[in-house]
Order: sequence, then structure tokens, then C-alpha cells
Amino acid sequence: MCSIIGYTGINSAAPILVNGLKRMEYRGYDSVGIATCSNNRILIKKGVGKVIEVNNNEKLDSLPGNIGIGHTRWATHGKVTETNAHPHSSSSGSLAVVHNGIIENFERLKQNLKEKGYTFKSETDTEIISNLLQENFEQTKDIKKSIIRTVSQLEGNYAFVVIFKDGTLCAARFHEPLIVGIGKHNDYFISSDVLGFIEQTDDAIYINNAEFVLINSSGIQTFDFNGNLIQHQITKVSKEFADVYKGDYAHFTLKEISEQPETIIKAGEKTRDELDTIIDFVKHAKSLYITGSGTSYNAALVAKYLLLKYAKIKIEPIISSELQFSPDSLDTNSVLIALSQSGESADVLEAVELAKKSNAKILSIVNIMTSSLVQLSSVVVGMNCGPEIGVAATKSFTSQLSILYKITNQICGGTLELDFDKVSNSMSEILSDHSKIKEVAKKLKSVSDIYVLGRGIHFPIASEASLKLKELTYIHAEGIPGGELKHGPLALMTPNVYVIIINPNDSTYEDTLNSAREIKAREAKIIGISDRKSDVYDYWIKIPTINEALYPLIEILPIQLLAYYSAVEKEEDPDYPRNLAKSVTVK
Ligand code: G6P
Repeated sequence: MCSIIGYTGINSAAPILVNGLKRMEYRGYDSVGIATCSNNRILIKKGVGKVIEVNNNEKLDSLPGNIGIGHTRWATHGKVTETNAHPHSSSSGSLAVVHNGIIENFERLKQNLKEKGYTFKSETDTEIISNLLQENFEQTKDIKKSIIRTVSQLEGNYAFVVIFKDGTLCAARFHEPLIVGIGKHNDYFISSDVLGFIEQTDDAIYINNAEFVLINSSGIQTFDFNGNLIQHQITKVSKEFADVYKGDYAHFTLKEISEQPETIIKAGEKTRDELDTIIDFVKHAKSLYITGSGTSYNAALVAKYLLLKYAKIKIEPIISSELQFSPDSLDTNSVLIALSQSGESADVLEAVELAKKSNAKILSIVNIMTSSLVQLSSVVVGMNCGPEIGVAATKSFTSQLSILYKITNQICGGTLELDFDKVSNSMSEILSDHSKIKEVAKKLKSVSDIYVLGRGIHFPIASEASLKLKELTYIHAEGIPGGELKHGPLALMTPNVYVIIINPNDSTYEDTLNSAREIKAREAKIIGISDRKSDVYDYWIKIPTINEALYPLIEILPIQLLAYYSAVEKEEDPDYPRNLAKSVTVK
């Protein structure tokens, strides 16, 4: 979603804010803006586009002052325009606000404020916060009291940062992330993500839900929403967060795809005891569910096939946003496993909250160990794959699979023959030569529809593959369970259609090859992902041969690369696909 940031200290705020926003652009990126406070005035610059573009045009980083706030937007209320970009000042210009989340009662609040003479320039819900703060400050003449009153009037989930023109920086958190970085020289950073300040400091305070911070010349204070002072420990942020550079890679997405031979091995490593506890729950649960959104849901689908086939355990995958429509299926005897890279997806958090109301046990598999999902779960296994910046999930998917494989393997007594060194080497082999994939990517450039076909456990991989193609190339893509081809999709096969066939040399091979033949007879082009060559493939992308159970871990890699190179061919930005955000913290 949106990212919010704030700074106060001895340095010039604007360049620090612009740099922090660049690091957090993955959260949302249709417009950007910053506000600083200088000589008792609030100055604002903003524009539509990415941080670098807007900064080049508007010189955001030239704003004077040692205190400021900033924002990258992923539009929810109001179109992508400069006027709707944050920060938003209040009617009098005495303060400015950046905000992440949604204010649900904004229409009612706006109407009230309008009747009192407050003016609004934008279509956003954020401007309500600015004007409410102004009204409450004018009535109380006290910043702390004005924050307490304002948060008591807001409904919805939000985090906001505000600068008052006297130089006070404040931030409040309600079900959206907010972290304070403590600098070495009496300077403070506020951010939606440690990535916003990790280059400046690795000392952080994780603000709890329903708390706010006040930072002024006398230092920092944290309060709960009733105004009680709260003491916080300073946490050392893991150094691995500093790994937010592309290095020699052209894009984060390519870097993250390339990291998979290592990340699958690291998955779950730091939380082995928790992994054992989850295994115990999975073995003994009376009813078992698994939930996630997007890529994480596709990993949940793989779990269903894996656990049933190899451990004879039934687990029901539920799309997180759909769980609200069948909450009664969960009860005290249920165990819900939540999968989420960010641990902040609103749909996942809502599903978990619902399950908790039914007294179900919550176990989670998460990458960001400081996330809200971690706080809601009884047991948490860390994916431990380092920051994933590219909006389209890649390494986090195989890390989730890796943990699900480890769980299954232990339950079935090792019959999966899980040899991660072998899987890792096979991945490295796939990643060692991109030439064939680049050649196919050139062909996909002008295609309007791509289908990805797989049978059995390869169907969730086909779904994940089509999600990657959609996200990165903007080409319509769809996963097809092999047997369903003749029940509809065959009608769509024409010479301009490309079909990717996931066809490792396992028990699904012959049937899937037959599907490929049926497609070929309708003149669609076939891209075969297989360790066995066949004349039916117009393009053969070879994968190494591996133990039958383990193909799903490796066969997604060539398709991740294909989606990446097709985006590059189309001159689209693979790291930041249009209209999407990495961490969707609104419903
Ligand atoms: C967004 C992202 C996807 C991701 C999904 C779930 O839609 O664009 O890439 O798979 O959220 O994210 P999570 O962090 O919960 O795994």
C-alpha cells in the first residue's frame, strides 16, 4: 500500500525522506510528495509518478528544513492526480499529514467539517485527518490532546504522520505498520517499514497498535490512545534488511529470482523449534485449514496436494478474502495455517482475526517477523528469505514451499526424499542459462493470451505461473488443470495463443503430453517446461530431472524468468507493475 515516512534531526530532512521513499516504493508508487517545516512554515512538493521521476521534475529533495514527512501513494480514495497526492495540509496550513490505510467514516466527518467552514482540495480521506487535527488543536491548544481526540473520531485502519508548523512531529498507528528509527545524533525516523531508514540506523522502536508518538525538542514520547505514557525497548533491526540493493542485477525481481538456490535452504532455519511445533499441530489437528492471498494462496494449494499424497493429511485451502463467507467451518478444534510474505495483507489478517474468534489455533509462515500477523499467531515459522522488494512474489513462494515440504517430509517419515542440496543445484542449473527463455520472451511480447497447463500438484504451479505472467507482462494469463482443457479452454486455442505446459517426467507426464497434442492440433503454440524433449513443443525449456515429489519446487523458476524477460521486452518495469502493491494493507 502507501508508505509513510517522517524525519526530525540535525540534517536536512528532504534528501533523507526522498531516499527512504525510494526504498519503500514497492508499497505503492503512483504518486509521491514530501512536506517540510522551515521558519514556522510548512512547504509541500508533490507529483504523479515514481519517486525518481517526481524528484527530477519537482526537486522534492531541495525543500529546506530539518523536519519533514513523505509519502508514496497507491490510490484508494480519488484518482491518481497531483492534488490527491500526499502530504495534505489542513485548511489553515498549520499542519500537514501523510497517511496509509482507509478512514471508513470519512464522508460523515467531511460533511461535519465542511459545515464548520473547513475546505477540502482533494478527493482523499487523508484531508479529513488534517482538518480534524486542526480543529482539535484549535480547541485544545495541545498537540497530545488533539491527537487523542482525532484518533477517537476516526474509524478504519490507518497509520499517519503529521508535522505541526511549530516543528513537532507526530505519528499514530491503528492496524497499519509504524516503526520509529532512533538515529545516532538525536535524530528520529518514522516509517511504514524499516527499509525507510535502515541506511541511517538499525535501532528501532516498534510502535504497538493504538499508540502514537510525539517527537519535539525534548525528545520522543509514546502514548496509548488514552494518553497513558508507554515505555518501549529499542530493538536492533536485523542487518539483513540492509540488503536492499540491486547489486549488479538490472532489477530486484531478477535478483530475487536468482537468490532461490540459497533461500530455499534458509527457509525455516532460524525457527526450527517452531517448525517442530507446527508439525505436531498438523499431525494431530482435528480439522486443518490453510490460508493466504495471491502467491501465498498458490503455495497453500500446493500444501493440499503434498500433505494428502505423502502424509495422508487433509488440509483445506481457503483464499483469505473468502474466509469471511464460511467462518462457521472453523471451531475450537481447528488449526489455521496463515501464509504471508509481508504478514501485513489485510485480507490475511482479517481471516486470522475471524478464525481467532472461533477459537481456532493460528500458526503462521511469515517472512517479516515484526509484522502484525506474527503478533496474532500462536506459533510462527520464519521464511527467512531476506527482503523481497519486487512486487511480484518470487523467492518468497519457493521459501513457503520449502517449509511446507519440510513439514510434509517429517510427517511422512522422509518418504519425500527431500534433498535440498539437490533442489538447490537444480535451481542453479535452471538459472545458469537464460538464453532460451529470453528467446521465448521475445515471442510472447505481442501475444494477447497465455495459458499455463498442469496436472495434479502442477496445477497450483500453473496458477502461480499465470499470476506471474499477468503481474509482470500485463498479458491475459490463466492456469488450466490438464483434464479441464476439453471442458472449455480448448475453444480458445488459436494460432495466436501460447500455452505453457508444465510437464516434468513424472506420473502426470503422458496425460499432460496428450493435452499438449490436443492443443497443438488447434495450432496454438506450445512451450514445454520439461526434462523430456518432445516434438509437440514449439519451444522446449529444459529443467533438470529430480525426484518426482520435488518438481514443483523447481519448475516455477523458468516461468518466473519468462515473465521477467517478457516484461523487459515490453519495456515495462518488472519491479513495480502498474496498479499493484506488494503489501496490500487495505481490504
Ligand atoms: C499482493 C502482492 C502479491 C502477494 C499478495 C499476498 O497482492 O502483489 O505479490 O502474493 O499480496 O502477499 P503476502 O505478503 O500476504 O504474501
